[in-house]
Amino acid sequence: MPDIFEVMSTMRAMRRLKPDPVPDDLINKILQAGQWAPNGGNTQRWRFLVVKDPNIKKQVQVYYKRLFDEQVGPRYRNSPPPPGSDPARQQRQLAANEYLTDHYHEAPVWIVACLESGENPGHGVGSSIYPAVQNMCLAIRALGLGTTLTTRHMGYGKEVDAIFGLPPGVHSYAILPIGYPMGKFGPVGRGPLNDIVYSDKWGQPYRGL
Ligand SMILES: Cc1cc2nc3c(=O)[nH]c(=O)nc-3n(C[C@H](O)[C@H](O)[C@H](O)COP(=O)(O)O)c2cc1C
Repeated sequence: MPDIFEVMSTMRAMRRLKPDPVPDDLINKILQAGQWAPNGGNTQRWRFLVVKDPNIKKQVQVYYKRLFDEQVGPRYRNSPPPPGSDPARQQRQLAANEYLTDHYHEAPVWIVACLESGENPGHGVGSSIYPAVQNMCLAIRALGLGTTLTTRHMGYGKEVDAIFGLPPGVHSYAILPIGYPMGKFGPVGRGPLNDIVYSDKWGQPYRGL
């Protein structure tokens, strides 16, 4: 099992996945890692859907693709490369993003992270579900499987939640398409740490690095 710092530093978004099935005992480990996450008041208002039904995945992929065409593609094409990236890398990221968009439903298993959050959830609501999502991403990477944290479907949240049969007040906050990766794990691309850490007050350089 790789060291946790190695897991974190090489947990790239793995958007190209093989269709080969993922054993249930690995899925169980991932789910357990999710449930170990902190959550506000330990109220545990989360539910995790393990989705394998090709028909359900395909219905959701239609909305995922629509959002790529309507928003994500144009945004990528009109944005400068993010910190630590360059135009060529950004282009590869767009191609991978488009690949996942087209093959989203072909990932053998999805975990959908849901939260009972009421009809008008406030800004802070994600803080009780994303720690679980991140735990699951880390577990997936540690097990040699690939995933990408995806939230794009929330652009058609009502429609997608209906496909999953979620009751009123429960919403889906992330979909993790999981499978064996086609590519290799590698270092994540981020800007210099120095650029984003301040000392005591905003803008004051932190000398500890
Ligand atoms: C809140 C959140 C939502 C995301 N949604 C999507 C998504 O819908 N589709 C996708 O392909 N990647 C999605 N990502 C993955 C990011 O694009 C990815 O982490 C980022 O480009 C950095 O790439 P890297 O993790 O491979 O270094 C999301 C990440 C986060 C944290």
